[in-house]
Amino acid sequence: MITIGVNGEVRTVEVSAWKRLLDVLREDLRLTGTKEGCGEGECGACTVLLDGVPVNSCLVAAGQCDGRAVTTVEGLARRGIDGSTVLHAVQRELVVRGGAQCGICTPGIAVCAAHLCDSDALAGPGDARAKVRELLAGNICRCTGYQLIVDAVIAAASPASNQEGGS
Ligand code: FES
Ligand code: FES
Repeated sequence: MITIGVNGEVRTVEVSAWKRLLDVLREDLRLTGTKEGCGEGECGACTVLLDGVPVNSCLVAAGQCDGRAVTTVEGLARRGIDGSTVLHAVQRELVVRGGAQCGICTPGIAVCAAHLCDSDALAGPGDARAKVRELLAGNICRCTGYQLIVDAVIAAASPASNQEGGS
């Protein structure tokens, strides 16, 4: 039996310690937002946060997650004071700017980009666009050419964008 904090809720699953976290999320917990691309740690489609750090869930065993906290793309949005769903700024900007097309890469990019925006990874001197490209280098997209994804992350990281979603 394995107990994992998933998107703020304690979940217990009866699975082999060797089952991939990706499969536990999709099959046992019905959180199908996390996608499988390569299944080999190359594409980033399956990215989730494990104790706040982006990991490829296709390379993480369930047993490694016992007692730890996982955030999936379903956990990025939050409830507003009126009970409505408030998307993370990254999710909002990906939609508005066309940074998602087929959507297979999008959950992993959203999770990774939200982590960037919520940390100080983009702070300080230097070309922010180059930093975004470098920090998202593990997330492969076959559709967008990355320009619109980078636009979305830059916009989401701006203080004005965070205020818009702050109610
Ligand atoms: S499916 Fe996990 S890195 Fe591609
Ligand atoms: S939107 Fe299709 S792979 Fe990225």
